Amino acid sequence: MHSITVNLTSNNYPIYIDSGLLEHIGDQIKKIYKGKKIAIITDSNVDKLYGNILETSLSKENFIIKKVVIAPGEKSKSFDTLKYVSEEILGFEITRGDLILTVGGGVVGDLGGFAASILLRGISFIQIPTTLLAQIDSSVGGKVAINSAKGKNLIGSFYQPKAVFIDPSLLKTLSERQFNDGLGEVIKYGAIKDENLFSNLLQYESKEDLLKNIDEIIYTCCNIKARIVEQDEKDLGERMLLNFGHTIGHGIEKQFNYETFTHGESVSIGMCIITKNSERLGITEKGTSELLEKLVKKYNLPCTVPDMNMEQMLKAIKLDKKNINDALNIILIKKIGCGFIKNIAASDIKKYIQCL
Ligand SMILES: NC(=O)c1ccc[n+]([C@@H]2O[C@H](COP(=O)([O-])OP(=O)(O)OC[C@H]3O[C@@H](n4cnc5c(N)ncnc54)[C@H](O)[C@@H]3O)[C@@H](O)[C@H]2O)c1
Repeated sequence: MHSITVNLTSNNYPIYIDSGLLEHIGDQIKKIYKGKKIAIITDSNVDKLYGNILETSLSKENFIIKKVVIAPGEKSKSFDTLKYVSEEILGFEITRGDLILTVGGGVVGDLGGFAASILLRGISFIQIPTTLLAQIDSSVGGKVAINSAKGKNLIGSFYQPKAVFIDPSLLKTLSERQFNDGLGEVIKYGAIKDENLFSNLLQYESKEDLLKNIDEIIYTCCNIKARIVEQDEKDLGERMLLNFGHTIGHGIEKQFNYETFTHGESVSIGMCIITKNSERLGITEKGTSELLEKLVKKYNLPCTVPDMNMEQMLKAIKLDKKNINDALNIILIKKIGCGFIKNIAASDIKKYIQCL
């Protein structure tokens, strides 16, 4: 079993990575939680696939369980679902000493973590992420949120889990597209921080080959994220590196109403466009954008968008909560494995986001 500790000023928590972990999850939780009650938040897809294994393992340890099942998909990161989940958990007469388990993709983790952060002013929660994106990204770092009509993730908090348990064997039931969606973020980690990860991804001969190394890949990504979050928990500096590809990516998701492209697909397009531009501007080493495009295409991710609306894109970037006054931070790479933050005047953004 791989393990990583996230060391924060207020608390430390472990991330465990092991194929088959879900079957022994009760035993693992017993080691770090001495209470009896556990409220599980999951979605109906994950519940159908893994609900029985989870409940069987928890019941063996005599935990008292309440399962709250939400509809799958981004629409569940809403006030309505938050209300439903909150009332169900309060109806279970949960106390501050009890535990919430979020079992699912980023939607369940974000919504469930946010519920945990506000119910009774904070109940401990454990993340059991079940998509690749959730295993390498959203379950680590404590950003939890729901969406507003004004934009994604605008209502939320920083609330760190008590632990993260990652079972890579759960990824076998993901569709090809969902799996590749997560790979978009894996490629991002390689591009900003780890040339070795990047070149390994280029070298795998098949999905089977990649899957043989998936525990290690997840470990590498979580490690990168953990080290970054340790330096900048509240996303005011170094953590912004994780937004490589996201400035344009968020604009694309918004323009296409979160329907045409998945998050990982939008980020892939964003990484490719911004790197082509930074290479043209002489900031990025020649040949880098070609390598990036090669890798993105290898995993069936897109690198361009046929009809990007520049006006809408600029509007989305302006509304991004990370932008301050007339300056904004964009993330570029000098070469593969070397990401950096560049502060630019808002009026210069067009140079970096045009489709070449
Ligand atoms: N908190 C953060 O730091 C952070 C970072 C990145 C993304 N996010 C958020 O994550 C969300 C996207 O997460 P996601 O891509 O996991 O989406 P998701 O949670 O909607 O899951 C995608 C789909 O996969 C299904 N699913 C989950 N696990 C499965 C499995 N093992 N087998 C088969 N199907 C499975 C789900 O039911 C759902 O239909 C977005 O809301 C995004 O804002 C948060």
